[in-house]
Amino acid sequence: MIEKVYVPPIKIQGIKTKIVEFISENVYLEENSTWHEPFMGSGVVGFNLAPIKAVFSDTNPHIIELYKAIQSGKITAKSVCEFLEYEGSILAEKEDEHYYFIRERFNEKHDPLDFLFLNRSCFNGMIRFNKSYEFNVPYGHKPKRFAKAYITKIVNQVRHLETVFSENDWEFHCCSFEETIARAGEGDFVYCDPPYIGRHVDYYDSWDEEQEIALKNALYASHAKFMLSTWDENKYRKNTYIDTVWDGCYKLNKEHFYHVGAKEKNRNSMMEALLMNYDPTTVPKRPLRAGEQLTLERMAL
Ligand SMILES: C[S@@+](CC[C@H](N)C(=O)[O-])C[C@H]1O[C@@H](n2cnc3c(N)ncnc32)[C@H](O)[C@@H]1O
Repeated sequence: MIEKVYVPPIKIQGIKTKIVEFISENVYLEENSTWHEPFMGSGVVGFNLAPIKAVFSDTNPHIIELYKAIQSGKITAKSVCEFLEYEGSILAEKEDEHYYFIRERFNEKHDPLDFLFLNRSCFNGMIRFNKSYEFNVPYGHKPKRFAKAYITKIVNQVRHLETVFSENDWEFHCCSFEETIARAGEGDFVYCDPPYIGRHVDYYDSWDEEQEIALKNALYASHAKFMLSTWDENKYRKNTYIDTVWDGCYKLNKEHFYHVGAKEKNRNSMMEALLMNYDPTTVPKRPLRAGEQLTLERMAL
């Protein structure tokens, strides 16, 4: 069971920090099996589950390059600290001008440290690239953006990765999900968190119905156990692809409450869904917490 959720140094839309525990409690990872995570994003899920053997991949080469550089020791907690202190002090003085200077430099040279700097100082910690694969998120104005405490937080996040990367046998690849899933064999586990279909996304890659079906076919063709993260419904909409594409899967729901503003009447709920090709009740579980609601359903074939 996960006692503390470690947050990775990269921020990304759709990051699963809040449901890492829910995911981990329902993952069926056997001894000696390899964890495959073809849509790793920030890596928060696999990094916290910390399996001994894992293959992490994503189509975004900048995420992969950063993690590979930390794994090889090319980038260290110390070099991150020095870099952010130096560039952060210029940012404090020149603000937008320096942010856009780094953005231009990154789009030309693709240095992973510049990527980290942009990711931690851009608007809302977003990752967004234009059609020419140039990072195009504007500056996220904040006085003292790289204050000492903020740098320490990022440095500690990198230090934690140095530790888990050195303790485990993990590979990082920049490739599409098909390649990673094709490597998974019987007894392995594939966790997928693709961009959500039917909702507006702006990732390195686009996502549509054709890809959702290609993902389903790749997963069904593999002999591995799999889990897919998706959204089920909110007050306004329902994810109809769960019934049309993922028929036959087991579905676990978890209601997630969030506030828009401070008022109680603005409390909204969102149903997160985990779809699996195995019965999650066979995974040893912890008891439910007060107020927690889980529902299990098997999708009709
Ligand atoms: C929802 S995010 C994953 C978030 C991640 N689980 C986390 O908690 O940080 C989806 C990821 O899929 C990647 N992606 C999009 N299309 C892809 C494809 N065809 N193959 C592999 N990765 C893809 C995006 O670059 C993005 O990092």
